[in-house]
Amino acid sequence: MIATGSVCAAANRPFRPARGTIITQYDTNILKIAIMSKKRIVVLTGAGVSAESGIKTFRDSGGLWEEYDIMEVATPEAWERNRDLVIDFYNQRRKQLYEVEPNDAHYALVELEKDYDVHIITQNVDDLHERAGSSHVMHLHGELKKVRSSVDENLVYDLEGWELKPGDTCELGSQLRPHIVWFGEPVHMIPAAADLSNSADIFVIIGTSLNVYPAASLVSYVRPGVPVYLIDPGEVNAAHIQGVRVIREKAGSGTRRLVEELRK
Ligand code: OAD
Repeated sequence: MIATGSVCAAANRPFRPARGTIITQYDTNILKIAIMSKKRIVVLTGAGVSAESGIKTFRDSGGLWEEYDIMEVATPEAWERNRDLVIDFYNQRRKQLYEVEPNDAHYALVELEKDYDVHIITQNVDDLHERAGSSHVMHLHGELKKVRSSVDENLVYDLEGWELKPGDTCELGSQLRPHIVWFGEPVHMIPAAADLSNSADIFVIIGTSLNVYPAASLVSYVRPGVPVYLIDPGEVNAAHIQGVRVIREKAGSGTRRLVEELRK
């Protein structure tokens, strides 16, 4: 659909294409403006969006933080104390990532791009949004398939295959570490994610317990009056989110349904 109202305003004269009109450069510019004027949907995703792909969430019963102690595998102190354990923990996650596929929720968000300017902010370190085909994905907590220098965080590399080995080093000669934001480390992407959240015309939250900050605070940057949807089969505390519409379904069916509704 072309938002002719705003297009006309931008072009400063009426736009009434007649049947059989030859497309001119003027019209092409109008079309470009129309595409740029698509409404923006910002989607905050968490572990739940990948659950139906077979990746465990963290805090559900049977979740990863029941099996592992966060302090032993996901902190800078753990890295100092027991590098082999930390490397192995993320190797197992990475290995699994090569065995799973995106699910309906990831694909439905790609479909949404036909009508909206969709931006995904994910807390997940998997690459399932990208593999499904989403165009704009921001990773708040790092990416499993990348590793980085343990002395210079700007030296980030794509890891070939799933296995990072003790003894694998960066160009400065120090051990490579998982490219993950551990507990106690700054989340560098937050200012950009906050700006994005503030620019949303519609905000959608999928599969996150909203327990981890600063990611959970992003919803506070959403402008008043912007519709907010939350898709999660569990009990998420969303009382502080004004006007939120909660869809208590799994990500696959809930996202598909919301996308159909938004595309009508
Ligand atoms: P959590 O494990 O805290 O929450 C997962 C959410 O997914 C819960 O609200 C579940 O109800 C929901 N869920 C479960 N199955 C689902 C399904 N099929 N469809 C939709 N939702 C489902 O995970 P996050 O909120 O993502 O950080 O956790 C945030 C951060 O904490 C993670 O990024 C990770 C973790 O520690 C780091 O490791 C830095």
